[in-house]
Amino acid sequence: MVENRVVLITGASSGFGRETARILLGQGFKVYGTSRNPTTKPQESGVGVIALDVDSDDSVQSGVKELIDETGRLDVLVNNAGYVLTGGAEETTIAEARAQLETDFFGPVRMTKAVLPTMRMQGSGQIINISSMAAFLPVPFEGYYAAAKAALLAWSEALRHEVKSLGIKISVIEPGFFKTNLGEARKVAKYPIRDYDHLRVRAISALDEDFRNGADPKIVGETALRIITSKNPKLEYAVGREGRYRRLKHLMPQSIIENGVRRHWKLDP
Ligand SMILES: NC(=O)c1ccc[n+]([C@@H]2O[C@H](COP(=O)([O-])OP(=O)(O)OC[C@H]3O[C@@H](n4cnc5c(N)ncnc54)[C@H](OP(=O)(O)O)[C@@H]3O)[C@@H](O)[C@H]2O)c1
Repeated sequence: MVENRVVLITGASSGFGRETARILLGQGFKVYGTSRNPTTKPQESGVGVIALDVDSDDSVQSGVKELIDETGRLDVLVNNAGYVLTGGAEETTIAEARAQLETDFFGPVRMTKAVLPTMRMQGSGQIINISSMAAFLPVPFEGYYAAAKAALLAWSEALRHEVKSLGIKISVIEPGFFKTNLGEARKVAKYPIRDYDHLRVRAISALDEDFRNGADPKIVGETALRIITSKNPKLEYAVGREGRYRRLKHLMPQSIIENGVRRHWKLDP
């Protein structure tokens, strides 16, 4: 019975999170969504709002407790909250890199650890992690974002094996470029190095264009619905126009892929 199934989505105030909440609500799921600032960033009406910062142990613990106290169960967690940091590998400070991994990798880790005891007790549950195509095709000047998303993918695969026999299913969505607030909310490494200026400026302008021409985020919400309603969900779902590159990367010679990447990001004169 869909009506009794409880879904928690992190970062539901915008983009994929908001669209996923809208689509699942429309299907009769009981949906809860998190935001760091629920008063200033309202969510889809009908969504139960939980104030939560995935960077904080205390905030995650109390947010998940608030939900379980109210519902007594949790069927699906969608680890969606995240942001993108741009800056070259050498230009980015360790603190900036750590902050990126704190939200985009340790955020889902923290949330998962907080909900697993409930799912183990139920003997059922499902976790969907929003990674990125950057996990398999890293974007230059977005290396720490790619590292966080690749770590999330590898960790999800290991976790999938660990919890399968406990009745818990793990899947990962790897979106290409979509029209959300991610580009606007992008953080930038604070200490640029002049030698990289011409490359970074060209690559970031291509990135901004990709976000501007991005696909409709409802595709990700529909994919989440497909995963939740599937009897045997797969590990990976590459979605969006760029999804085909996941297969191509394994089929084509590395040099062709590398030249294509350099051309796309305008790295050669
Ligand atoms: N758009 C794309 O093309 C694309 C492609 C691949 C992957 N992704 C991934 O998709 C996910 C959703 O991004 P989006 O594109 O929908 O971007 P978005 O519109 O900027 O939404 C990001 C959401 O994350 C939340 N958030 C950010 N930091 C948080 C934190 N520390 N704790 C809790 N919530 C936090 C924000 O909520 P509050 O500010 O209200 O807290 C917001 O609701 C991200 O993980 C992103 O990396 C996006």
